[in-house]
Amino acid sequence: MTGNITFTMIKPDAVSNGHAGAMIKMIQEAGFRIIAMKKARLSPEKAGKFYEVHKERPFYGELCQYMSSGPIIPMILEKANAVEDFRKLIGATDPTQAEPGTIRALFAKSIDANAIHGSDSDENAQIEANFFFSELERF
Ligand code: CMP
Repeated sequence: MTGNITFTMIKPDAVSNGHAGAMIKMIQEAGFRIIAMKKARLSPEKAGKFYEVHKERPFYGELCQYMSSGPIIPMILEKANAVEDFRKLIGATDPTQAEPGTIRALFAKSIDANAIHGSDSDENAQIEANFFFSELERF
């Protein structure tokens, strides 16, 4: 059974380029309801913890450095089939491979500065949502 929650964060490149508003508009127009949202900045240690699953990958160090380089906008989103539908909306991790019209095709600069994160499973959506938000911050 598929869940109705996913976690996303708008990454430092998209926040600093002023694309957050346009991206949030696309997310809402695609039928996702924002349950929680804030502006935050990760320390390198916190970014390392968030991306711990990638710690053996060659890009882990750069990823943690990049994700702590400026403010991000984490959100919890609700919709039927949320994880899969959201990954379709944002497109492939590498923006050169992303379908035209997807968020990454429109706004991402590179595989590192790829504008937005989306959970890859229902289980990770819960873990990632809990990383940023308490129950009291969800409406
Ligand atoms: P994200 O969905 O946030 O999850 C891990 C991130 O690592 C990914 O987006 C990319 O921004 C980044 N990354 C950098 N290089 C790679 C790579 N070769 N494969 C997958 N992810 C990568």
